Amino acid sequence: MEFSVKTGHPEKQRTNCIIAGVFETRRLTTIAERLDKASDGHINNLLRKGDLEGKAGQVLLLHHVPNIPCDRVVLVGCGRERELKDKEFRDIIKKAIQAVIQTNAIEAVCFLTELNVKSRDIRWKIKQAIEITSEILYTFDTFKSKKDKERRALRRLIFTVPTRRDLPNGERAVLEGQAIANSITLAKNLGNLPPNICTPIYLAKEAENLALEFESISAAILDENDIAALKMGAFLAVAKGSQFPPRLITLEYRGCKEHTRTISSTKVRTKDGVHPQTIQPIVLVGKGITFDTGGNSLKTPAGMIGMKYDMCGAAAVLAAIRAAATLELPLNIVGVIPTAENMPGNQATRPEDIVTSMAGITIEILNTDAEGRLILCDALTYCERFDPDVVIDIATLTGACIAALGHHTSGLFSNHNTLANDLFNAGITSGDRCWQMPLWDEYQDALNSNFADIANIGSPPDGGAILAASFLSHFTKRYHWAHLDVAGTACRGTGRDRGATGRPVPLIIQYLLDRCSKITK
Ligand code: BES
Ligand code: MN
Ligand code: ZN
Repeated sequence: MEFSVKTGHPEKQRTNCIIAGVFETRRLTTIAERLDKASDGHINNLLRKGDLEGKAGQVLLLHHVPNIPCDRVVLVGCGRERELKDKEFRDIIKKAIQAVIQTNAIEAVCFLTELNVKSRDIRWKIKQAIEITSEILYTFDTFKSKKDKERRALRRLIFTVPTRRDLPNGERAVLEGQAIANSITLAKNLGNLPPNICTPIYLAKEAENLALEFESISAAILDENDIAALKMGAFLAVAKGSQFPPRLITLEYRGCKEHTRTISSTKVRTKDGVHPQTIQPIVLVGKGITFDTGGNSLKTPAGMIGMKYDMCGAAAVLAAIRAAATLELPLNIVGVIPTAENMPGNQATRPEDIVTSMAGITIEILNTDAEGRLILCDALTYCERFDPDVVIDIATLTGACIAALGHHTSGLFSNHNTLANDLFNAGITSGDRCWQMPLWDEYQDALNSNFADIANIGSPPDGGAILAASFLSHFTKRYHWAHLDVAGTACRGTGRDRGATGRPVPLIIQYLLDRCSKITK
């Protein structure tokens, strides 16, 4: 799909389809008004006959509009103008694009980006429209021997901007929108792959491919011996039961040229005049459990379905770094991905085993199904060597987070208020929202162990999402840290109709973009 921007009047477009809005009740937008004038009142005549009220999401497909050179007009109900906010705009775009796809139009010109959405600019509207279109067109049929031969004509979608002065802004929005949409697609594809194919080594290969594709990205892959040499006892305990060996993936994106450090050395040189925040990297950590059986604390058959998505944190990190490199963001970003498979068996960790983490903290593993925090705690200790500005981990960590927030909102935990607020705001802007939950000291008692420094599950288990985050907080004391629990948001549906959503890629990229605009200010 090709996206672009232009200026122009609706009544002059020579194209297969134009998209224009109508407010409730039968009130024309400026664009629809122009079409009406040019067609001697044709649009208003139709509305008067009652074919379109203008309720949000209604659509009416018109052919042969008098004096209008385009083949079709899709009229979309936009609801009440004053109530047009983020969600309404997204719904309107979705309905409009779905209607266009039903037709045979190869090219469409969309005027809906000229609708007023409270406190949103043209850039936001174009980016959202591209993400939504890409979401509608997404299919994953790699493993179908007969591909769905549903023929789609639509090839080009053109968004209009009000004036020529808006063109550069619009073009940047198209670039960003496409980079975000492509990243989301990458995250979805990785998530949807079956766990016999998407193994830790497969994810490592994916990271190496990014490094080959982009000059600005380098990758380092550590194997089980390297992981043992780093004394990552918690990480290794999770990997032991699987025939697939674990990997610790490090990706480094260098978008701020003054940053002279590489993965192997630890010195940072700050050049005069460069904001130190642009030097210290943003570190993204992603949980990469390629399948979670629960290990010897085995899940039920129903509870195991969907556990191929337990690497969606890892996928989000790969995808976000890809977007940063595509957009050449002036930031330094490090991605750290501990990846393993959680299997039961006679080689696997037992409940009541005690392991020593890289940080030296001993952990009594009382439930092998609480494995995410075990691989993450060592990865989080490893992050210290990057002298991070902030560390953000992304993990499908707890069923309890789904119980608390459902499937619309990711759980947010942080030891730093500014970071938490920045992520919250990036969620609002992108529509990929998160909500902060507490990390107060009172919760720590539940993690006490009789025999080791801490236990890997809580007793009592209530507030499980908070307890998991509290566990991680032991390993993040040396830097500003946030944790996103995406168990409820990284995939949708249940059982057989589950599918990856690509979340929280939009949120992370928005956070990165916000960081960039802070530097230039
Ligand atoms: N990967 C799961 C969390 C999960 C559950 C994600 C459901 C998506 C849907 C995680 O490793 C897990 O098993 N967590 C346990 C923790 C418990 C044993 C303390 C859980 O949530 O039940
Ligand atoms: Mn588990
Ligand atoms: Zn898991």
